[in-house]
Amino acid sequence: MTKRKHKREKAQLFHHLTQQAKANSQSEHDAPLTAAAAATIPLLASLPESRELTKMKKFRFQLLHEWIVSHLPQGRVADVGGGKGLLAYLLQQSGWQATVIDPVAQTLPDKYKDLTLNRRVKIDATETVPHITRPFAPELAEQFDLLVSMHAHGCNVQLIDVAATSGKPIILLPCCIIDEPLLPAPGQHWIACLMEYAQERNLLVRPFRLNFRGQNIGLFISIDGHI
Ligand SMILES: C[S@@+](CC[C@H](N)C(=O)[O-])C[C@H]1O[C@@H](n2cnc3c(N)ncnc32)[C@H](O)[C@@H]1O
Repeated sequence: MTKRKHKREKAQLFHHLTQQAKANSQSEHDAPLTAAAAATIPLLASLPESRELTKMKKFRFQLLHEWIVSHLPQGRVADVGGGKGLLAYLLQQSGWQATVIDPVAQTLPDKYKDLTLNRRVKIDATETVPHITRPFAPELAEQFDLLVSMHAHGCNVQLIDVAATSGKPIILLPCCIIDEPLLPAPGQHWIACLMEYAQERNLLVRPFRLNFRGQNIGLFISIDGHI
């Protein structure tokens, strides 16, 4: 083997091992919370266990929509990192003023399943939701009463800061740790890290679990804990 080839193979192996180590350390912190891990976090210990939950992850928008409309008064809501905008669309259908804030502009899906009526509903190609095509920044929060962020990147910590400084309630469904200015302590789950960060800012955290498989824990975070 030539020296150059040997060097290249060594570099490839090093790259592969560092990527693997990165993936392992990240999944330890932000993989779906196991029942055993949840039991060690006081506020999460009483949530129903994930294995009792039956719905598929693709129904998360309908389930979060149902939770929001049944717990909160109608208002102006931002779906931060809202992707295709189905949650904002469903909230709009329920009378909310809903806007997606996401640096990537995407079109609404053409259909979704109404879980109450158990039937497929088409979304006309002419339907839209308001979209702010920018990464989230605190000043964007000013025009909203509630900020929601499901499985979004780069905005969980910023949204907690917004809740602390503006008093506006937020809902987070944390997923991967991507583009965040904060990392969990060794052995700490990302959700526990975010809860601790919010509590250190005198915010009240009310966790809930939605009925879908995967990263289904939501955190309602506000200054007074009132829903
Ligand atoms: C995993 S997707 C989740 C989308 C949707 N909420 C869902 O549950 O399917 C993450 C989203 O975060 C958006 N995103 C990435 N960085 C962002 C930022 N700085 N501010 C707001 N959204 C961001 C991405 O464009 C993407 O749509």
